[in-house]
Order: sequence, then C-alpha cells, then structure tokens
Amino acid sequence: MPETITITDDRTGKQITVPITDGVFPASAVRELDPSLYIYDPAYMQTAACKSSITYLDGDNGVLRYRGYPIEQLAAKSTYLEVAYLLLNGELPDAAQLATWTYEVTNHTYIHENMRKRFVDGFHYDAHPMGMFVSSLAALGTFYNDAKDIDDKASRDKQILRLIAKTPTLASMAYRFSAGLPFVYPDNDLSFPGNFLNMMWKVGEYNIDPRLERAMDVLFILHADHEQNCGTTAMRIVGSSHADPYTSAAAAASALYGPLHGGANEAVVRMLTDIGHIDNVPAFIEEVKGGKGSRLMGFGHRVYKNYDPRATIIKKTAYDVFEVTGKNPLLDIALKLEETALSDPYFVDRKLYPNVDFYSGLIYQAMGFPVSMFTVLFAIPRTVGWLAHWQELLGDKDQKISRPRQWYTGVEARDYTPMAGR
Ligand code: SDX
Repeated sequence: MPETITITDDRTGKQITVPITDGVFPASAVRELDPSLYIYDPAYMQTAACKSSITYLDGDNGVLRYRGYPIEQLAAKSTYLEVAYLLLNGELPDAAQLATWTYEVTNHTYIHENMRKRFVDGFHYDAHPMGMFVSSLAALGTFYNDAKDIDDKASRDKQILRLIAKTPTLASMAYRFSAGLPFVYPDNDLSFPGNFLNMMWKVGEYNIDPRLERAMDVLFILHADHEQNCGTTAMRIVGSSHADPYTSAAAAASALYGPLHGGANEAVVRMLTDIGHIDNVPAFIEEVKGGKGSRLMGFGHRVYKNYDPRATIIKKTAYDVFEVTGKNPLLDIALKLEETALSDPYFVDRKLYPNVDFYSGLIYQAMGFPVSMFTVLFAIPRTVGWLAHWQELLGDKDQKISRPRQWYTGVEARDYTPMAGR
C-alpha cells in the first residue's frame, strides 16, 4: 500500500499526492493545491510543528524516551547532568566528557552580584517565586550581551552552560527572598542537586541526606524534556525570531507557569488540601464530573492516553522520600482520588490518567518546599529541554520565523463612522 495521501480540491478537481513519512505529510501540499487555503488547527492538536530527534513519546502506550533511552532506565541509572549532556549532544558522555561537563556546570553557578543585591530587591515581599524566576531569566540575559550572537556556536554553548548552571541559583534566590532568609552562595564541592538543596535550606549547618539528593536528581531527570509541550513550543516560537536564549527561556517559563501546564503540580496540592479527607473524595469526583469547581488537576494529558510513565516513577520515588521525611498525609487522599477516578467511566472513557504533576507536589511538600516553589522546581530541569530544542531549531534548515495564519471571522470592510452616527 503506497505511503502517500491524495487531497482533492472538489471546487477545481485539482489533486495533490504527497508522501507520508513516519506518520507525517507536508502541509505544503495544501499550498500547492491553493495558496489561499489554510488548515484550521487550534492548539495545534493535529500539527507537527517541527522535526526533532530529542524526545520520543508514544501516548497510547505510555512511552517516553530521551534520545532513544527509556525514561525508566535513565531515572534508575543516570544523573540529571548526564541526561542534560545526552539531551544537548545526542549521546551519553564518556567519563572524560562527563567530568568536563560537570566541572563546567559546577563552575558557572554564580550569578552577578547585582542580580542578588539590586534586581531581586525590586520585588514585592510576597512576590510569587515563579514570577521572580521568569523575570530573572530575562534579567540574567542582560548581563551577557554576547548571547545575541546566536549564530556563533561557541556563544550558544556558553549561554546554554550558564542557563543550566544558574537556574538552581535563581530558583533558590527566589525562595530565600520570599522566606526573608539570607542568600546562600553556590558550593562548588557539592553535586548539582546537592548544591541546590544546600542553597535552599542551609541556615548555619545543613547536612544533605543522600536519599533526598538522589530523589531531587531523579525528579530533575523526569522533568528535563517532553517533546513539543506548551513551554517548549514557546521556546521554539520565540527562538525562531532569533531572540537570545535567556529571553526565549523566559517565554518558555512563562508558559510553564500556567496551571494547565507546569503550574499543575502546585494546583494538585492545593486541590488535595481543599478536599481535606479521603471521605470527601467521592463528592469531589462528582463535582469534577458535573463540571463544577476545578478539573481533577494532575490528571489528563494531551499526548498520554495511558499512564504517564513519569507518574509511575514519581509515585515510587515518593515512598523513598517519605522514608526520610515521614509520609505526606495528602498521599492517602491522592491514592483514593486515583483509585476512584481510574474506576469511573467519566475518566476512563476520556483516557484521563495521572500525569507527571499528580504525585510530584507531594514529594516537594514532604521535602519542605512551599507550594509556590513547585513550578520553579519543574522549570530548573526543563531548562535543558528548552535549550536542546532551541539549538535544534537553529540548526534546522526547514525552520524560519514562526508566523501562522488565521481563520478570519471578523466583519468585512466598512467606512469610519463619525461620532454622530454611532
Ligand atoms: C504538563 O504537553 C506536555 O507534555 C505537558 C507536560 C510536560 O512535561 O511538559 O507533560 C506537563 O503540563 C502535564 C499536564 C498538567 N496539567 C494538569 O494536570 C491540568 C489538568 N489537566 C487538564 O487540564 C488537561 O488534561 C490537559 C490540559 C493536560 C490536556 O488537555 P487537552 O488535551 O486539551 O484535553 P481537553 O481539555 O480537551 O479535555 C478532553 C476532555 C474534556 O471533556 P469533554 O469536553 O470531552 O467532556 O477531558 C476532560 C475535558 O473536560 N478533561 C478533564 C481533565 N482533563 C481533561 N476532566 C477533568 N479533569 C481533568 N484533569
């Protein structure tokens, strides 16, 4: 059977046949049929906006692979810095490459003192840490004017290194400011996750529990990339105008901030807290089904019509963390919600399963992070995903500035109406 598709314009009888490659056919076929014809696809539900070799998702079977490696194996055997190298370079590093990469990241964790002493003090005392984080990404770029040299690979690599290394510093700075605590400078003797935990929690002494350090690393691995999600699409769209990577990342982080996207982990814990007790779960589920109140946050996914593989791993990681911190009391409500929803036709028929955000917030809360920091914790590792797609975009000869068209449904031409006639 030919791997082609034929489109016929019944208005003219004109036909176009184009190849289907890996389940994709070029929209240019429509342009050949009639340049004034556009495909209407709000929210890009049926659109492949780019070619990419970074991450593969199979939503029906709950498969997630970074550069071909199953997420389950990377979460069990790798580290975030090794995964960051893999996402950016396409291959796992050898020992020398990993040592160099780790040294480079570790020695770029500081931010300019003016960010600490002047920029951050401009925020209101109760500024949301994610709003501070988004602003800090763009502000960080103002210290590196060479970031505009996006055609220079050496400059791109330097900015990529800076952003990966400094996002934990920006994140902890936002938290420490919100908590009224003095900032903790990066400690280059610590691991990537260990340094972040130290910058977050150190007051006098702070002993890093290796189980929490590993759990943080696993969570960073799981959140590092996820194909053409909303935030990464924002990175690609802004990056396509040849904006620098800091302002492009600020756009991506802004998209992630939304409660339908990365803001869902914060919304889940607020939802579980509002439910308050497992006895209230059935009534809450009925409210969701009736379209009253909130959605079942942390459930559902545009791609996964099966269990999000990350949720499975996070659920297991939660128990490792609770061994150290004690069980999060909201866990029982979450488990009851999952059990009830997965046996209810409303959710089963709509293929709504727990996603990456359903259990992650329980871990963060048990580790002591305030709910307002949850999306910042998502943004730290997702920075490497945004940057991997950004550099892939700039190297893709098919790509140019993103500029979709529209289905105009407004009024036709009309003359200006003087005030007397209105
Ligand atoms: C992330 O894209 C990515 O890869 C994102 C992400 C990543 O790593 O980058 O995986 C991270 O964003 C995970 C998703 C976090 N968001 C949430 O948990 C918020 C709650 N979930 C939803 O709002 C929703 O499921 C979305 C936004 C995730 C997906 O929405 P879609 O694909 O646009 O689906 P939809 O809104 O069209 O819903 C289809 C149906 C609707 O019912 P009907 O109108 O057909 O009757 O399912 C219902 C929706 O009402 N539905 C839900 C629901 N999600 C969808 N009903 C109740 N609770 C929900 N959570």
